[in-house]
Amino acid sequence: MKQRSVLFGILAVVVSACGGGGSDGTTAPTTPTTPTTPTTPTTPTTPAPTLRQLAAAKGRSFGTALDATFFGANPAAYDTLVAHEFSMATPGNVMKWSSIHRDSRFAYRWANPDALVAFAQANGMQVRGHTLFWYQQNPAWLTSTTWSADTLKQLMKEHVDSVVGHYKGKLHSWDVVNEALNDGAGTLRTTNNPWATALGSAYIDLAFTEARRVDPSVLLFYNDYSLEFPGAKQDSAYALIQGMKARGVPIDGIGFQAHFQVNADGTGVPSRTTLTSTFNRFAALGLKVEITELDIRVRTPGATSAELAAQAQGYGDVVAACLAVDACDAIVVWGVNDGESWIPGTFPGWGQALLFDDSFGKKATYNAVRAALGG
Ligand code: XIL
Repeated sequence: MKQRSVLFGILAVVVSACGGGGSDGTTAPTTPTTPTTPTTPTTPTTPAPTLRQLAAAKGRSFGTALDATFFGANPAAYDTLVAHEFSMATPGNVMKWSSIHRDSRFAYRWANPDALVAFAQANGMQVRGHTLFWYQQNPAWLTSTTWSADTLKQLMKEHVDSVVGHYKGKLHSWDVVNEALNDGAGTLRTTNNPWATALGSAYIDLAFTEARRVDPSVLLFYNDYSLEFPGAKQDSAYALIQGMKARGVPIDGIGFQAHFQVNADGTGVPSRTTLTSTFNRFAALGLKVEITELDIRVRTPGATSAELAAQAQGYGDVVAACLAVDACDAIVVWGVNDGESWIPGTFPGWGQALLFDDSFGKKATYNAVRAALGG
């Protein structure tokens, strides 16, 4: 559309330069008219491209998590902003067991996740499903009973049949397994994880196999944090996925959560080089790479201008690293504006982690992302 109107513009200039008649010398000379004072040409105001548009021009999706603001009595302006700036949406909470499968074994709560998917479809946005198996936000009916290993496998299949089945053909991807590895050494995380406790790492293979069985076309992701920089946890995730591939377990991608913080000395966000080599390492396994929960927190109140500058630089580096790796096809921020971010509640003394401020004004972080996307 845009290319076509530019093309018409060029043609119009060429046509007017060639046309006009009088080239055979037969027309009478016209009396020169008194020159009029030229008026200052007004530049047509084209709206600045949005992050969604800029990312699309680079073959990437740019997304956000949608949560309480979206489902609450939010102003229409919120929806408009989301649809303009983002081409992908993921539920911050409403597809987790504690929400969608909260009440009992055979009861599911579809209203909010269905509304999110309908909104995304109406606005041409992709949806990342989040998440099928995690050690947090599980309902009491599940965690307060000691189930046999066989029944736990059955519960996993039922959940996948119901939830993946409900959204079959409608989602871009699922975070099938979330945060399966411990901090530090990256061993299998069993605490509070009923499936890992009963089945060991076999639960991961089962989760992916079942998800593929129910929706053969949705992309299946392993999603975790602290994998962005080299270390034991990254190595462990690499070995896990390499093993899955060797066993023929269907996995399409890896999600890097990218919850970063700017330390007082300006460190904390992995460098562009570190991120690029991490993404390349996992891409070499044949995986898609997505940045799934990006936020970069600073100390609040009282972040220094140096800390804010490091934060903006960090956002730009994450985007640039994604653009440097063909396999990286999406960047998703974890919320639209600082006022709805999970950070202040979970990390007291930290905040201001997103692209828009409390009044939905664009921050330096937004401008850094825009610049990194070429805008
Ligand atoms: C967070 C939500 O944003 C909060 O509202 C909720 O209270 C806790 O979970 N890693 C994940 C996300 O995979 O699901 C988490 O989301 C943030 C950390």
